[in-house]
Amino acid sequence: MRVWPRSLAARTAVVLVAGLMVVQVAGLTIHAFDRVDVQQLAQSREIVNQVQGIHRAVVATAPDRRATVLASLPRGPGVSAALSPGPPVTDLPEMALPRRRFWLLMGAGAEGPDGRNDGVRPNRPFGMGMAGGVAYGGVQWHRVVLGFPLPGGGWLNFDARTDPPSPWLSPTFMAAFGLMTCVAAALTFWAVRRLTAPVRILARAAEALGRDVNAPPLPENGPLEIATAAVAFNTMAGRIRRFVDDRTALLAAIGHDLRTPITRMKLRAEFMDDDELRAKMLADLEEMQAMVAATLAFGRDARTTEPLGSLDLVELIRTILDETGDANPGAADRLRYDGPAHLPVKARSLAMKRALTNLIANAVAYGGAARVRLSPPAAGLVTIAIEDDGPGIPPAEMERVFEPFHRIESSRNRETGGTGLGLPIARDIMRAHGGDVTLANRAGGGLRATVTLPV
Ligand SMILES: Nc1ncnc2c1ncn2[C@@H]1O[C@H](COP(=O)(O)OP(=O)(O)O)[C@@H](O)[C@H]1O
Ligand SMILES: [Mg+2]
Repeated sequence: MRVWPRSLAARTAVVLVAGLMVVQVAGLTIHAFDRVDVQQLAQSREIVNQVQGIHRAVVATAPDRRATVLASLPRGPGVSAALSPGPPVTDLPEMALPRRRFWLLMGAGAEGPDGRNDGVRPNRPFGMGMAGGVAYGGVQWHRVVLGFPLPGGGWLNFDARTDPPSPWLSPTFMAAFGLMTCVAAALTFWAVRRLTAPVRILARAAEALGRDVNAPPLPENGPLEIATAAVAFNTMAGRIRRFVDDRTALLAAIGHDLRTPITRMKLRAEFMDDDELRAKMLADLEEMQAMVAATLAFGRDARTTEPLGSLDLVELIRTILDETGDANPGAADRLRYDGPAHLPVKARSLAMKRALTNLIANAVAYGGAARVRLSPPAAGLVTIAIEDDGPGIPPAEMERVFEPFHRIESSRNRETGGTGLGLPIARDIMRAHGGDVTLANRAGGGLRATVTLPV
């Protein structure tokens, strides 16, 4: 079992709630100690009152009647009083001075008229109760043993005990602790979720930027730190956008500038005497021109910031298959679609059409067939498999064919008219949609191009 949660919200909440519980236990403990003090004070007051009453009554009585009087006096629970020839016998330690004084003076009723233990009282000289008295008791006040020598001989001994208070087991303590913890936890969870919401928004924005450099910017409001992060994120997105645009513009510019020299070279080649050499030269220049044209087209496509829209993927695939069939009447009966009748996705329709067209055209050109199979969304991804019956691609070339202008040697001689930009463009477009294109040879021969696309 993992104790430490993974999410920031949960971690913050755990730390806060634990901290709050510690603070509460500390606070409630201080409170409980205060209450214990007050309670003990009240308890000792109570005992003092009883001791005082009994002591006074006994002292005022003639020695021979003291036992009868003592037996008739009421006393509370925990207090016992007895007449004895000598001082009390106990294994409790003798009290230290201030406390001893308190108990003996108070017990003998030697406090002031307002109840204060000032020892000043007209008919009782200061310290009278103290004289000869003994007091035993531990540090705790739960039990005291007092002995007062009586005028006329003998002792009056007390043994008083009180229940020690137990503040932690009290239902109020538990209820207060439980209630405060629950309320604090609820508030914490609510606040933490609110506070960490911007992090989730940021994560979603980063994800969206990966799919679409032109994704709308983050709102730059909210708490200062979040707003700062949003501004930084938007700045970064802007830089990436500019970087991509600059590169594409550069590509288009190079392509554009190469057109003129190629045209000039073609004109000059016409004047070459050697027929064979001239034909080869012209063929090469023709190829160069095609590559430049493809580069320009690519640059133009990449720069058009077509907005994301809703489109039916199945309808798009059917359209492409129809058009491919029209362009290659011989292969028309080897084009097939297999899958659901409709599948709406969010995509740039022109780009998406170009990417799928490139893959289907390859299947037809190099594999003589195109079987498109669309799998319904699983784990947020749709999969489009495009299979053909051609020779496939040697494993070593499987990734290289995605490089611009890279064509497998055997297909150069074929009259396919390609320039080697079809696959890189298809992959570029799919990745810009957050998906990808991969190639694999089929077990039974032929190639399978697999497109994954998030929905
Ligand atoms: N379905 C396929 N079967 C066999 N080879 C393929 C297939 N698709 C692509 N290729 C190889 O990958 C190379 C690059 O493809 P692509 O980028 O579309 O460029 P082009 O089609 O213009 O040559 C092709 O020249 C071809 O050799
Ligand atoms: Mg191609």
